[in-house]
Amino acid sequence: MMRLSLFHAPKWMCARTVNSVSALGHMNGTCRFHASNKRQKVLSVDNMNPFVKNMEYAVRGPIVIRAGEIEEELKKGIKKNFKDVIRANIGDCHATGQKPLTFLRQVVALCTDPDRLMNSPDYPKDAKERAKRILNGCGGQSIGAYSDSAGVRVIREDVAKYITERDGHPSNPDDIFLCTGASDGIKTIMKLMMTGKDGAERAGVMIPIPQYPLYTATIAEYNAYPISYYLDEANAWKPHRSSFIPAKY
Ligand SMILES: Cc1ncc(COP(=O)(O)O)c(C=O)c1O
Repeated sequence: MMRLSLFHAPKWMCARTVNSVSALGHMNGTCRFHASNKRQKVLSVDNMNPFVKNMEYAVRGPIVIRAGEIEEELKKGIKKNFKDVIRANIGDCHATGQKPLTFLRQVVALCTDPDRLMNSPDYPKDAKERAKRILNGCGGQSIGAYSDSAGVRVIREDVAKYITERDGHPSNPDDIFLCTGASDGIKTIMKLMMTGKDGAERAGVMIPIPQYPLYTATIAEYNAYPISYYLDEANAWKPHRSSFIPAKY
């Protein structure tokens, strides 16, 4: 289950919860959440989105929580018959000691702190050129400026160029939409497949089992319906035609 941190709503946030009180008018008024001096929680487990309550993201589940506890115990000097915890649950390469790609780190560092690093002899010419290209494509030459919704144009151009070279098929930067990792992209696409209806009219999404838990979690979040089909370990995890037959709503 996801854990929510509950928060106290500031007054400006409550304006929309009170009938016919405009945000401006509300500044001099009170709302039901601030009527008494005692501030109450506006968002609680009882009134939160029920679909989010149904979400489970098992890669961060009980085993990971226990691993974290064991790590804390080791730090406190509690003796065990091992010294380290190796987190092998999600193929987290960096957490298991793999070195990050130097070039990417350098470009990110240069983009973030160009005034200090662009003249530094510690950074190679190719990383500086790449960082300059990216910064020139950002408003005010700052990586902190707003980008197009689809992402910084020059980066989309580079992505399109990469796809063109890799696939031997022209790719248009206007067709590229950057996202913050696979989960963000998958959720954006899955959102497009939802029907917006309830009960038997909800979208059914076919998912292979075993699956990455993002898929069942997102299906629960979007109030869709998971339709599972099974993969065959003995057959290189391929689905067999027969596994689709029991998959039903
Ligand atoms: C199949 C699959 N989908 C989604 C993800 C999530 O990717 P990201 O961390 O880029 O959001 C992973 C991560 O390992 C994955 O293996």
